[in-house]
Amino acid sequence: MYDKGKVLIGLAIFVIAALSIVGYNATMGDVDSFRTDGKPGPEKPVGHDKCVKETAYMQTSHMVLLNEWRDEVIREGKRELVETVGGEMVEKSLQNGCMGCHISKVKFCDRCHDYTNVKPYCWDCHLAPVEAPASKEAH
Ligand code: HEC
Ligand code: HEC
Ligand code: HEC
Repeated sequence: MYDKGKVLIGLAIFVIAALSIVGYNATMGDVDSFRTDGKPGPEKPVGHDKCVKETAYMQTSHMVLLNEWRDEVIREGKRELVETVGGEMVEKSLQNGCMGCHISKVKFCDRCHDYTNVKPYCWDCHLAPVEAPASKEAH
């Protein structure tokens, strides 16, 4: 005879542990799996480790940074390069800066925006990389 009570407790601990791992992956896993509907999350850039600012800031405030860049470039004429967290120098530009690393609007920006139902109007004027991979002239 084995001890039913101990077996049940062991089983319960196993089930709780297994469930918490599943729950962790569904909610807290790395940013690629932030979506809970089974569809892929935003694609990570190849050959780059760091964004312009810390990832947490980028996730919540990239639209603020884009506005700052736009105002500096258009209103103040400040077109100097900016240094990323990883020490790379990039253009303050939606097309040549952000999309220089995030090479697909569809697999990056859209994967979040579709999920959260956000529709930035930027692409009315700015070219998305998939639409014009060879062109550098956005305007
Ligand atoms: C030098 C290359 C580079 C540039 C330029 C760049 N990014 Fe990133 N970005 C990255 C990398 C690499 C990551 C992933 C960082 C990580 O895994 O922590 C990232 C992460 C992000 C994230 C979070 C993604 C997620 O999966 O949670 C957002 C949003 C983002 N970038 C938007 C932008 C925007 C908007 C711009 C332009 C203002 C920009 N990035 C410019 C390389 C870049
Ligand atoms: C990690 C998910 C994620 C990624 C990746 C992402 N965004 Fe967003 N973006 C959001 C969310 C969420 C909002 C809405 C935030 C809010 O309403 O407060 C947003 C809002 C915006 C806005 C403001 C739009 C509005 O109507 O208020 C702009 C502009 C924008 N994103 C640009 C971009 C660009 C360009 C990229 C690709 C380079 C990108 N985002 C990638 C999640 C993301
Ligand atoms: C009505 C057309 C139009 C729309 C819509 C638009 N832009 Fe622009 N944007 C421009 C023009 C024109 C420039 C000036 C380009 C230059 O002088 O290099 C510019 C410049 C910029 C720049 C700096 C330079 C560069 O090449 O990126 C940023 C950043 C920018 N816009 C971000 C945005 C964002 C983010 C959105 C959406 C929230 C947006 N723009 C919507 C027309 C537009």
